[in-house]
Amino acid sequence: MIALAPGKVNELHTGILRWYGRHRRDLQWRSTTDPYEILVSEVMLQQTQVARVQEKLPLFLKIFPTMRALARSSNAGVIRAWQGMGYNNRAVRLRRLAQSVVNDHDAILPTDLNRLLSLPGVGPYTAYALSCFAFRRRVPVVDVNVRRVLSRLIWKMRNPAEVRDEKEIWTLADRLLPRRAYAWNQALMDLGATICIARKPLCSLCPVRASCGSSHLGGGVFSRGSSKPFRVPEPSYDGIPRRIWRGKIIQRLRTLKSGGSISLIDLGKSVKHGFRKTDRPWLLNLVQRLEQEGLLSIQTRSTNTMVSLSLE
Ligand code: ADE
Repeated sequence: MIALAPGKVNELHTGILRWYGRHRRDLQWRSTTDPYEILVSEVMLQQTQVARVQEKLPLFLKIFPTMRALARSSNAGVIRAWQGMGYNNRAVRLRRLAQSVVNDHDAILPTDLNRLLSLPGVGPYTAYALSCFAFRRRVPVVDVNVRRVLSRLIWKMRNPAEVRDEKEIWTLADRLLPRRAYAWNQALMDLGATICIARKPLCSLCPVRASCGSSHLGGGVFSRGSSKPFRVPEPSYDGIPRRIWRGKIIQRLRTLKSGGSISLIDLGKSVKHGFRKTDRPWLLNLVQRLEQEGLLSIQTRSTNTMVSLSLE
């Protein structure tokens, strides 16, 4: 286990918390104490840019202001409300989570970490984020940005491939946690988003460059070949990643009137320029996967395969 000199830890705490006091971003989820709002924002933030979440969160909360409202909705309703966020299966999972909280916890998110972890769709990140941001517990919260920031601060990180492994970072983050855990965790996220950015960190603006293990290494720019080892190529069709095709399909289904459906062929024609018969098996496979995840329904009418937004 890496040694942490108390003097250095103090410098990091003071420097980062003071910087956060002056530069913290004014974000909606930092000015609420409603655990439900914090849950929705954290799920959105997992794969969507902060600016987009800022725009969409109030709209979503207007439609589903409470855990009960979300649990009562239809799948089609949440998928529609998720428009513009990407990765639509998060909408379906969030609704399932709300149903489980309503059914098993009287619509109140449990505060205990293990209970949070036992909820469907809640992994370690979400459980720890809720524990700290909603329930003000003194626990670490590590996302990709925090992982990079801590790897650089505590170790020597010359390039992105040298980011420390997940488990090591959680342990370190726990050891490093000051009393003001909420501010600290949010501060690390802001530092990672605005200064200690992935590609070319802005070390000259960093409040703790003097205590950083990596600031003298030229900023950790990508050196040739270094970023590749952990990148798995995305599955794609016709040069376009599957996640984009999935998004196009769901977006087309959103435009159907409530309860409406579209034939597989018409769906193909509207999502893929020059859609041909030979593309049909690919499209069928995609919609079948989406159906398994609860995002849409497939019906067969006479010889036509009809697709609609999931209505459950
Ligand atoms: N990314 C994930 N959670 C966040 C938060 N609470 N603030 C800023 N960025 C985040």
